[in-house]
Amino acid sequence: MNVPLVIAIDGTSASGKSTNARIVARTLGYIYVDTGAMYRTLAWYCLKQKVDVDDTRAVAALCRRWKTELVCVDGQVRLLVDGVYPEKEIRTAETSAAVPRVAAIPKVRAWMKKVQRQCIRFGNLVMEGRDIGTNIFPETEFKFYLDASLSERSRRRAADGVKENLAERDQRDSERAAAPLMIPLGATVINNSGMTSEETSARIIAEIRRRLDGVADSGPSL
Ligand code: DC
Repeated sequence: MNVPLVIAIDGTSASGKSTNARIVARTLGYIYVDTGAMYRTLAWYCLKQKVDVDDTRAVAALCRRWKTELVCVDGQVRLLVDGVYPEKEIRTAETSAAVPRVAAIPKVRAWMKKVQRQCIRFGNLVMEGRDIGTNIFPETEFKFYLDASLSERSRRRAADGVKENLAERDQRDSERAAAPLMIPLGATVINNSGMTSEETSARIIAEIRRRLDGVADSGPSL
């Protein structure tokens, strides 16, 4: 039986993870998983339930009891809460400000790890986030780390109509004790400041194909 492959794409905010992960997933026919959306969903749910996102115990308790379900729709994994998929709601400035607080809670990260690993039941994955190569699927041989200059990333966010303090969010994500953002060992690092998403995704796909050929070449002949 073939074990599903996981392509891990980590990196800073607005480094092009989502755009490129989607292109790579579509090109290879793999399932796309946006783990940031899962953290955003919890942050949004806390705000909705009036749970203080700085109250670690209350957030952990909510995370233990919320009613969620993983489904795969159009090649993308969705986390449903009470049967609902909150898509637009999780992208507001209020949720963006709350999410790094929720993401710093160790019990939340343990819950996310369990759920994110379950995604392989849907097949081969392209999973993007901050700790996929270091913590969620450290065993995968396909690790990528995307970055771009702060000015370029801020420009991209502004072009999307979103105004936020990226430097502060990156700092929170990198300095938290639980599974901080860092470059996974053995990852291919791509600084895409001067690159288009076509160029970035082409680099990622070429590297995956090169490695897959290598795996096939070094494997036992059948
Ligand atoms: O990728 P994004 O901007 O939607 O992520 C939202 C937040 O969630 C971001 O502050 C970092 C956090 N996050 C995380 O800690 N670990 C992940 N695997 C994905 C996102």
